[in-house]
Amino acid sequence: VIRTRLTELLGISYPIVQAAMGYVSGPRLAAATSDAGGLGQIASATMSLAELEAAIAETAGRTSAPFGVNLRADADDAAERVKLIIAGHVPVASFAQAPRPELVAALKAAGVVTIASVGARRHAEKAAAWGIDAVIATGKEGGGHVGAVPTSLLIPQVVDAVDVPVIAAGGFCDGRGLVAALAWGAEGIAMGTRFLLTSDSPVPAAVKQVYLETGLDGTVVTTRVDGMPLRVLRTSMVDQLLATRGRAVMAADVPELLRAAMVDGRTDLGLMSSGQVAGVIDDLPSCAELIEAIVRDAEAGLERIATVRSV
Ligand SMILES: Cc1cc2nc3c(=O)[nH]c(=O)nc-3n(C[C@H](O)[C@H](O)[C@H](O)COP(=O)(O)O)c2cc1C
Repeated sequence: VIRTRLTELLGISYPIVQAAMGYVSGPRLAAATSDAGGLGQIASATMSLAELEAAIAETAGRTSAPFGVNLRADADDAAERVKLIIAGHVPVASFAQAPRPELVAALKAAGVVTIASVGARRHAEKAAAWGIDAVIATGKEGGGHVGAVPTSLLIPQVVDAVDVPVIAAGGFCDGRGLVAALAWGAEGIAMGTRFLLTSDSPVPAAVKQVYLETGLDGTVVTTRVDGMPLRVLRTSMVDQLLATRGRAVMAADVPELLRAAMVDGRTDLGLMSSGQVAGVIDDLPSCAELIEAIVRDAEAGLERIATVRSV
């Protein structure tokens, strides 16, 4: 059985976290992940306060296992979101980008475990100084907003920089990846794209099909969407955007474009955040099947590595 400081901290069976995904990781996906022994997370940045309150209640009704809520510290109503998390007895809160020390303090005072998302060593050091309980370090092969450092270089660097448990993200999909993350000194993995491509994910079938057909060269990082580097599927709409001079997408339109794909199934005009790992995924297991396979393969991998040593 793979036990780490992360499984202890979160009270989960396996060191596998479902990364927050706007319009994708709501109660259904979060509860399915948590029920399977991982940590499911509700992505709240794309929800109103009322929707978040309802999502917390629905998730708690679907699973008795721990789950998390992901929020943006720079949201105008971040303090109210923190109050909803505390009132709903949500065990874990994670920050999508930089946390704010007063929000971390309020959550910790209420007994909520806090996690920061980082893409560079200095962000991890800052969050650790604010008392964060764990960090998710995401390499540049990840989906959505990404930093510049690949996972294989970022994880060891962050592990060396902070004492709190590090969750490795960006490009993970299987048991070998979990073993690699443990070898780099991480205490678990977080996955977005892989959980989007499960039978428990609410994304329309036509959208899942586009991801399944994507090759390793099928994603692109662009700052043309909202000014920050965002990894998305390279659709013809995105190619047009890249070919047009100037800022072609207005920031206010971004949520609508994400929603058009993830909720309405409009693969022609929607924006689809995706990790490069989409290029090696070709099935749609349930969360339970996925987590079971990852744990089984990781245990086999650890045993195989032990025999390398005794040869
Ligand atoms: C479809 C999709 C939507 C995402 N939406 C969000 C989001 O709303 N907030 C956020 O902080 N990260 C978001 N991300 C990034 C993930 O939380 C995570 O960092 C990323 O998926 C990890 O890389 P992987 O896809 O290779 O597993 C999204 C990723 C995907 C694939």
